[in-house]
Amino acid sequence: MEMEEGFIHPITLFIFGFLFSQGLNLSPVAATSTIRLGDELNSTSQLVSNDGVFTLGFFSIEATNYSYLGIWYTKDDQSRRVWVANPNTPIKNNSGVLRMDTAGRLVITAGGTTIVVVSDKSGANAAATLEDNGNFILADETGKRTLWQSFDHPTNVLLPGMKLGFNRSTGQNWTLTSWLSDNLPSTGAFTLSWEPTIDSASGQLAIHRRGELYWTSGLLEGQKFVYMPILNSDIMEYHYKLRQVFDENGNYFTFDAITGSFLMWTLLPEGNILDGGNTNFYISPADFVMGISWIMGV
Ligand SMILES: *[C@@H]1O[C@H](CO)[C@@H](O)[C@H](O)[C@H]1NC(C)=O
Ligand SMILES: *[C@@H]1O[C@H](CO)[C@@H](O)[C@H](O)[C@H]1NC(C)=O
Ligand SMILES: *[C@@H]1O[C@H](CO)[C@@H](O)[C@H](O)[C@H]1NC(C)=O
Ligand SMILES: *[C@@H]1O[C@H](CO)[C@@H](O)[C@H](O)[C@H]1NC(C)=O
Ligand SMILES: *[C@@H]1O[C@H](CO)[C@@H](O)[C@H](O)[C@H]1NC(C)=O
Repeated sequence: MEMEEGFIHPITLFIFGFLFSQGLNLSPVAATSTIRLGDELNSTSQLVSNDGVFTLGFFSIEATNYSYLGIWYTKDDQSRRVWVANPNTPIKNNSGVLRMDTAGRLVITAGGTTIVVVSDKSGANAAATLEDNGNFILADETGKRTLWQSFDHPTNVLLPGMKLGFNRSTGQNWTLTSWLSDNLPSTGAFTLSWEPTIDSASGQLAIHRRGELYWTSGLLEGQKFVYMPILNSDIMEYHYKLRQVFDENGNYFTFDAITGSFLMWTLLPEGNILDGGNTNFYISPADFVMGISWIMGV
C-alpha cells in the first residue's frame, strides 16, 4: 500500500513526542520558569510557570506602544495582566530587557541602561522563579530564603493566595491600586485595602478614591461580605474560599480558589471590583457608596 503524501510515520511522531516531552533544548527559547544571573528576557522571550498556568514577559499596549513587564494567565484570551512590574515607568519601545544584575537584583534595562529596578532586595546566588500561583519570587538559592516577591507588590489584581492587609513585623500594607485607564497601568485614583475592626475580630474591604473613603464592603460574615451579596451567591459560581487571618505577624484578608479558571479580582480604573473568574461579574458596583444603595435596592 502506498502511503499518502504528507503521511508521518507513527515512529517519527513518537520520537518527536519523546524529544519534546524530555524538554530537550531544541529551541534556544525553551520555556523556563526561572531567571538567573546571566539570563536575559527580552520582548520575544517569556517565563512560564512549571504547570503552564502563568506567563511573565513584556507586553505592549496598542494605544501607546509603551511596553511593560507583566504576568498573565497563559490561556486568558483577554490577556488581562495580573501584575505589572513598571506601571509608572513604561518603556517607550520594545527594547526592554529583564535581567539580574551582578548584585542579584532584578532590573529592566533598555539600550544598556537600567530603567527600572524591579526588586529592591538582592542576594548572592539569587534566582527568580514564576511560581504556579502567579507569584514571581526572588530567592536565595542557597538559603532558600525569599528576598522579594511580586505578591508583596500588588498592582490592581488580587489572585488566590495574595493578601490585602498588613504585616505586623515589616509594617507592609498590601493594597491594590487601580490603573489610570484601560490603556494606562500607571497609578490611578482608587485603592482597595483591608480594614480590620479595632478588636481585630473581623474586618472589611475599603475602596478609597484619591485618599477619601469611597466604598466599604461591610464585615466578612462567613463566606460573604455584607455589602457584596453577589459574591459567592447562587447566581454566580462559588469560586472563592474567603479567609481573614489575625495572627502575630499579620492581619489580612485572602482567598483560596475552589474551582474555575482565571480567578482574580481586579480593581478597575472606575473604582469597581470585577471578578474575572465569573465571566466578569461586578462584585462592588461603583455607585454602591458604602453599600447603602444596595441595601435600599433590596
Ligand atoms: C531577544 O533575544 C533573542 C535571544 O538572545 C534574540 O535572538 C532576539 O533577537 C532578541 N529580540 C529582540 C527584540 O531584541
Ligand atoms: C505603534 O507602532 C506601530 C508600528 O511601528 C505604528 O504603526 C503605530 O502608529 C504606533 N502607534 C502609536 C500610538 O504610536
Ligand atoms: C527605548 O526607550 C528607552 C526608554 O524607555 C530608551 O532609553 C531607549 O534609548 C529606547 N531605545 C530605542 C532603540 O529607541
Ligand atoms: C493601608 O492602606 C490603606 C489605603 O491607603 C489605608 O486606608 C489603611 O489604613 C492602611 N492600613 C494600615 C494598617 O496602615
Ligand atoms: C511578614 O514579614 C516577615 C518578615 O519578612 C515574614 O517572615 C512573614 O512571613 C510575613 N508575614 C506574612 C503574613 O506574610
